[in-house]
Amino acid sequence: KMQRFIDELMSKMTLEEKIGQLNLITVGFDVTGPVVSKDVDANIRKGLVGGVFNTYTPVAARKLQEMAIKESRLHIPLIFGYDVIHGHRTIFPIPLGLSATWDMAAVERSARVAAEESAADGLHWVFSPMVDIARDPRWGRIAEGGGEDPYLGSELARAMVRGYQGPGNDLTKNNTVMACLKHFALYGAAEAGRDYNTTDMSLARMYNEYLPPYKAAVEAGVGSVMSSFNDINGVPATGNKWLLTDLLRRQWGFKGFVATDYTAINEMVNHGVGNDAQVSAMALNAGADQDMVGEVFLKNLAQNLKDGTVTQETIDQACRRVLEGKYKLGLFKDPYRGVSEKRAKATLMKKEFLDDARDVARKSFVLLKNDNNALPLKKAGTIALVGPLATRQRDLIGSWSGAGDWKQAVSVEQGIRNVAGSSVKIVTAQGANFTDDALLVERLNAYSGDIVPDKRPAEEMIREAVLAAQGADVVVAVVGESQGMTGEAASRADIGLPAPQLELLKALKKTGKPLVVVLMNGRPLTLNWEQQNADAILETWFAGTQGGNAIADVLFGAYNPSGKLTATFPQSVGQVPLYYNHKMTGRPFDAADPKERLAKYKSRYLDISNEPLYPFGYGLSYTSFSFSKPELSSATISPGSGLDVKVTIKNTGNFDGEEVAQLYLRDVAGSVSRPVRELKGFQKVMLKKGESRTLTFHVSPDDLKFYNNDLQWVAEPGEFQIFIGPNSRDTQQASFKLVDGQAAN
Ligand code: IFM
Repeated sequence: KMQRFIDELMSKMTLEEKIGQLNLITVGFDVTGPVVSKDVDANIRKGLVGGVFNTYTPVAARKLQEMAIKESRLHIPLIFGYDVIHGHRTIFPIPLGLSATWDMAAVERSARVAAEESAADGLHWVFSPMVDIARDPRWGRIAEGGGEDPYLGSELARAMVRGYQGPGNDLTKNNTVMACLKHFALYGAAEAGRDYNTTDMSLARMYNEYLPPYKAAVEAGVGSVMSSFNDINGVPATGNKWLLTDLLRRQWGFKGFVATDYTAINEMVNHGVGNDAQVSAMALNAGADQDMVGEVFLKNLAQNLKDGTVTQETIDQACRRVLEGKYKLGLFKDPYRGVSEKRAKATLMKKEFLDDARDVARKSFVLLKNDNNALPLKKAGTIALVGPLATRQRDLIGSWSGAGDWKQAVSVEQGIRNVAGSSVKIVTAQGANFTDDALLVERLNAYSGDIVPDKRPAEEMIREAVLAAQGADVVVAVVGESQGMTGEAASRADIGLPAPQLELLKALKKTGKPLVVVLMNGRPLTLNWEQQNADAILETWFAGTQGGNAIADVLFGAYNPSGKLTATFPQSVGQVPLYYNHKMTGRPFDAADPKERLAKYKSRYLDISNEPLYPFGYGLSYTSFSFSKPELSSATISPGSGLDVKVTIKNTGNFDGEEVAQLYLRDVAGSVSRPVRELKGFQKVMLKKGESRTLTFHVSPDDLKFYNNDLQWVAEPGEFQIFIGPNSRDTQQASFKLVDGQAAN
C-alpha cells in the first residue's frame, strides 16, 4: 500500500521536487555550525524542502506545515526534527548518566516521556539515540552516549528506540516520534579525543567493539540514521558506500532513511575527497538520503545527473526513502498529528514526567566513596554548601537540552531545602570560580554560557567558604564542570577538576570537617586527590530538571545510590584510552604480584600503575552486598546448549538497597587474542536489609561468539572463564569449556 501511494506521488514529481525532499533545513535558533538555510518560506512553497529542524511548538510547526500542505504544488508534508537527546522540556540526566542507572526500564521511560513531550510540541523526529562507543574521556561528547561497553550500549540502544518509537514501532500513533540513530559510525573513536577527528581501526575491532550498539538499534527498528562527521580509514562516513550501503542496508537490512550530520557533505571537501560537485555525487551514491543544512544536493544533484555522476534511479531511491519515513509517521493522512496548544499545555512538564525525571536522576548517581558513613546526612545541624555549582541552576540540564529551560531546574541548594526543610541550616559560599583560565571562560561564554567569574581574589573566596565550613557540621562541596565544558566541540586535554576548585577542596579539608564532594560533570575525571581526601564522593553528572531534588534525596538517604560507572575513570589522562575489556599483551604486568614491583620489560608505566581510579561497573551503596561463588549448571557448553550460572547476593549492611550483578566472560585462547573480560549480562536487584536472593544467568553459545579476522561470527572451542561481581574488577570466577567444534554460521 505504501509503495503504491509513493509510486503514484513520485510519478507526479519533478526532478527539482524530488531533490527538494533530500533537503533538510534549519530554521534558526540553536545552530551548531554555519546557518546555510536561506529563503526558507519560498523554498518550502516551491517544494524544495523535505524536512525542517530547530523549530518546535504547535504554532510554529503548524505554520510551516500549512505552508507545505497548502501552498506547495504536491502538498507533501514536512518532517520536523530536533535534538531531543535526554528529554525535551522535562530534562533527564545526560545519556552518560542515564546509562549509569543500568536500568533499561528507566532509560526507556526517559525516552517515552521525551517522545510524549516532543510529539505534543509539534515534532516527529528526534536525533537520538546517540550510541557511539567512547573510550576517551577527553572527547566532550562522551557525555551524550552510554559509555564504553558494546553489550550495555546495545541494551541502551534498544531501550531508547522502544521508548521513542513506542510498542511495535507504530509511528502512526501521534505520541511517538521517529528515532534517529547516530552518529554512524565510530564518531566516538575520534583520535586523541579531539572532536571531529579522524578514526582508523581494524574491521574486527569495529565489528566486535564499536558497531554492536548501532546494529542493535537497527534490529530494534530505528526509523532513521545520521551519518557521522568523521572519516573511517580515510573515507568520510557521509560518503562511505561500504558503511551506508553494504553494511547498513545489505548486511543489517536497514529500511529507513539516512540523514547526514550538519553540513557533513560540504565538509567532505575539507576532508580532501573532492570538490562540491564531487562530494555531492559521492554522498548520494554512498547512501546518504537527506542533506542536513548544507544544500549540496539542492545545488548539485541536477548537474550531477546531467554529468552522469549520479543516476535518476539513485535520486529516486533517496526520495522514496524520505517519503516512506513520512508515510510511516502517518504524515500524509494527518500532517499535524493532533498537535494543539491545548495538548501541549496538558503534556509538557506535567507532574508525572517531573516525578519520572527525579526518580531516573536518583538512579543515575554513582557513589564513588563513602568513608565512615559520611553519607547519608542527618536532617539536623548546619551544612556548609559551597562550590561554583552549589546554587546554580544553569548547568543541571547539561548539553543538548535544546528545549529545556534551565530556569525551571532545581538547584542543589533548593533541593536540600525541599528535602530537609528547616531542620538543617544551610550556609552557602561559592568558594571558587569554575576555572581561572580566562580564555576558557571566554570560549565557553561565546556559545553556551553565562559564566560570570567572581572578580574577588581566589584567596578571599576560599576564606569565605572556609569560614562557612568552620561553623558547620559537614561540608557539601558541589564542584565539577560547567555544562559547556562537555558536549559537542568541548574536548579537554586535562580532565581533572579545574585548579581553583581543587584549591578550594584542599582548604576545606584543612578545616577537619567531614567533606562530602558532589560532582557535576559530563565525562570521567581524574580524581586522585579527591579519592584520597574526601570523606564521600557522589557523582551526579548533569542530572536534569529535577537534579537538585534528586541529589538531596540521595544526600539524606531517601534514596540509596545504585548507579554504576559505564566509562572507566583513569588515574591520569596519560593512561587514556583506558577501558576494562582490553587485550592481555605479550608482557602483561601483574600489579598483585610483589615480585613484579620493579619488573622492567612489562607493559606498564614507570610513574603510575596501570589500574584505573574507578573501574567500569563500579559504584557503592549505603549498604553492603556479598556475592557467593558462581555455580554453573554444567562444566561444558556445546553449540546447541547453554548453561545456567547461579549466584547468591546478600544485603549485609544496614539499608535496603539495589545492586547490579554483572557477568563477564573471557575466551582464554582463541585464533585471535580476546579481551581479558567482556560484559555479557547484568541484573539489577532490590534487596531489603539482611535479604538474600539467588540470581540465574543463562550463558548461550551465542554469548561466546565474536568476529574473527575474516569477519566470521564464531565461537571457538576451549576454555572460558566466567566472572560475576558488583563491578568489572571485584569478581569471583568459575570456568567451563566449549566442546564439539566450531559453532559458526
Ligand atoms: O544531531 C546533531 C548532531 O549530534 C551534531 N551536529 C548537529 C546535529 C543536529 O543539530
